Amino acid sequence: MPAYRPPHIPACEITPRAIFMSRRQFMGTAAASFVLAGAGGALAAPLTASPGPFATDETLTPKEAVTTYNNFYEFGTGKSDPSQNSQHFKPLPWSVKVDGMVGKPKEFGIEELMKLALEERTYRMRCVEGWSMVIPWIGFPLSAILDQVDPLGSAKYVSFETVVRPGEMSGQTGLFQPLEWPYIEGLRLDEARHPLTILAVGLYGETLLNQNGAPIRLVVPWKYGFKSIKSIVKISLVEEEPQTTWKNSNAREYGFYSNVNPAVDHPRWSQATEQRIGEGGFFKVANRPTLPFNGYGEQVAGLYEGMDLKANY
Ligand code: MTE
Repeated sequence: MPAYRPPHIPACEITPRAIFMSRRQFMGTAAASFVLAGAGGALAAPLTASPGPFATDETLTPKEAVTTYNNFYEFGTGKSDPSQNSQHFKPLPWSVKVDGMVGKPKEFGIEELMKLALEERTYRMRCVEGWSMVIPWIGFPLSAILDQVDPLGSAKYVSFETVVRPGEMSGQTGLFQPLEWPYIEGLRLDEARHPLTILAVGLYGETLLNQNGAPIRLVVPWKYGFKSIKSIVKISLVEEEPQTTWKNSNAREYGFYSNVNPAVDHPRWSQATEQRIGEGGFFKVANRPTLPFNGYGEQVAGLYEGMDLKANY
């Protein structure tokens, strides 16, 4: 079974400086055309948004770490693979189909989604591997599109699907396939409708880069990062709990709920503390206490009243 590997390399050492600098020089000239196109890709374009709720005032993780220290197995399992292998991925044209138990199924073009009221949401992100970041996302509440499709009373869960493109995603080719594709994630409908749950189209004032899930990805800040599925092409409202990729791959280690919980250890490591990427100088240590629901308990604990959160990991 594939398994997460705890990080050993500091994020700042991952992208060679020369590659990073040449990418930046390129950005200046190319940004204008991507603004017209409305979404990013291998290069980011400026994106404006109004300040949104729930912002943490904790120190932001440096943008270089957010864009070079990634998990996106469709481009490889190494932390630097997504930024290095996703240059030829095409996030445009793009659309997201919303179907299933809804009165008005709809396919949303990315241009239409980018015109929704965009907010900056600065959230903590805690990966199940034991590291965390603080990221200024730009996006809109998922409920903004769920409201448009008229969910039926029978809809209890929402399932999300990432694009499958072996021609552009090197992790989907070859003998070793770390996961089954498409990458699938899911939420209960009330989790999906929660105001903290967003679809992000940008970060740090720019459209998403391919490695971060261009052109559109989910962000659910009180759950482990693997729930925040990238490069979404389909959202389906369903009656039964969706068969999610990591749970299917190893149900003992990865649950459907996967709420951040310092009291429930991963079978192979403790979840009591975390390493904030960018902190701690040379000797990286996971010395920051992990908070229940990643610090969003006040907002979301009520969703799980009466549930045994140890059994329903
Ligand atoms: N989505 C897809 N499609 N494929 C992936 O491998 N990795 C997940 C999540 N979304 C993943 C994905 C994991 S494990 C994490 S921690 C976050 O994306 C990382 O997001 P980031 O690289 O933008 O920080």
